[in-house]
Amino acid sequence: MTAAAFGTSDFIVVANRLPVDVEKAPDGSLTWKESPGGLVTALKPILSARNGAWVGWPGAPDVGDGPIDGQDMLLVPVKLSAQEVQEHYEGFSNGSLWPLYHDVIVKPEYHREWWNTYVEVNRRFAEETAKVAAEGATVWVQDYQLQLVPKMLRMLRPDVKIGFFLHIPFPPVELFMQMPWRREIIEGILGADLVGFHLPGGAQNFLYLASKLAGYPTSKNSIGVRSKFGVVTVGFRSVRVGAFPISIESAELAATAKLPETRQRARALRKELGNPEKILLGVDRLDYTKGIDVRLRAIGELYQEGRLDPERHIFVQLATPSRERVESYKTMRNDIELQVGRINGNFGRVGHPAIHYIHRPVPRRELLAFFAAADVMLVTPLRDGMNLVAKEYIACRNDSSGALVLSEFTGAAAELRQAYQCNPHDLEGVKNAIDEAVHQEPEDGKRRIRAMRRQVLQYDVDRWARSFLQTLAGTVDETRA
Ligand code: ADP
Ligand code: F6P
Repeated sequence: MTAAAFGTSDFIVVANRLPVDVEKAPDGSLTWKESPGGLVTALKPILSARNGAWVGWPGAPDVGDGPIDGQDMLLVPVKLSAQEVQEHYEGFSNGSLWPLYHDVIVKPEYHREWWNTYVEVNRRFAEETAKVAAEGATVWVQDYQLQLVPKMLRMLRPDVKIGFFLHIPFPPVELFMQMPWRREIIEGILGADLVGFHLPGGAQNFLYLASKLAGYPTSKNSIGVRSKFGVVTVGFRSVRVGAFPISIESAELAATAKLPETRQRARALRKELGNPEKILLGVDRLDYTKGIDVRLRAIGELYQEGRLDPERHIFVQLATPSRERVESYKTMRNDIELQVGRINGNFGRVGHPAIHYIHRPVPRRELLAFFAAADVMLVTPLRDGMNLVAKEYIACRNDSSGALVLSEFTGAAAELRQAYQCNPHDLEGVKNAIDEAVHQEPEDGKRRIRAMRRQVLQYDVDRWARSFLQTLAGTVDETRA
């Protein structure tokens, strides 16, 4: 790596994906569509407001020749070959790190070739970023696919301020110790000036590993939420470590859900579903961490036991396709579709399935109409860093009706205390939570939703970004708070 000349961007987000994915037609022409996932949902409004640059992979191999001037941001594509996509994205990121950081729900695989490509692709991201960053720029590196970028970028551009945020859980120490390249990852992240996690627990795990694996002195205080940051002393530098729970554009969502056309679409959806007494809803990327299988099993048994009635209680599962070339995702899709078919075979009738399953992304407006129509939202991950869907549902409940069933194993559970919380490994517990939510007293339901709306409206995504970026800029000093 050689030192780069200065670019012109003062604020840069670096993420594995650009906020738009390219689709390449057989004739070579390119079209762009919104890319999936919570990271893009959260960061796009922040970057648009600051007119910054976004460095990322365009979502298809061999695409990306030079920056593209987007409407409100500069898009800087990182061109990756098919082999790099396979070994960095599908391999090390989603075959090693993703399952390891999500409690080994699926067994992580460790391959040296995957690791070597991970290092190489991280280097490419660091180099592209170094080219566009103005002198003294602020660079915000995102997520597990790019954990080596902070250190690599610091070597190229010691003048820039570097933040790193992990959008997924940081695992318990005992699990992280499996990773063959554990020290390199910790050292890579420690190239940042500020390292952020959703929850204090993840931040604490990281602090412990910085001392155990890399031998750096660390602060001993317990880390708070947006406060009481930890410190790792790396040579002459101090790296701060903190918890910053991510959120959504709550007010914007609430306002859109309130629009007459959204409410009209919500009523139309209810009618299309046969005017059931209660609509239950699941909205996820099709991922084995999301516990879609858990909620299907629970609903199937509740129908069987007569605690739910397939004539009156309809379940809609919207599932965006995700990581479709990774083996564990193919297996999971087959399992889920088998479960849906079985439940409909047992409990549906012609023209009236008990479960509606859509394996396509749903346009944003349509999604908000689903949130507005749903009487009970089912969010049952086995492990999830935050889960924005839970917050989106709450933001859309303008009349305070509805109910949220929420897994204790999501980051959101720490904030949405009034949800019907459940342990996704305890099937009877999940069934009871769904049963209670479906049959709740309206007044109790309103009290719960109102309390959660206060939380979601107050702590929105802008506040998340501001608290992280102000801490990075050093304008907030809460190390002693
Ligand atoms: P993750 O980052 O793991 O995908 P989150 O729940 O944090 O999970 O964020 C998912 C984002 O993707 C949310 O903004 C959600 O509205 C959106 N999303 C999830 N499923 C769908 C779907 N079927 N159609 C459209 N958008 C979806
Ligand atoms: O938040 C987790 C995350 O992996 C993000 O980094 C990503 O944008 C999103 O989920 C969707 O995943 P993918 O980019 O693999 O489709």
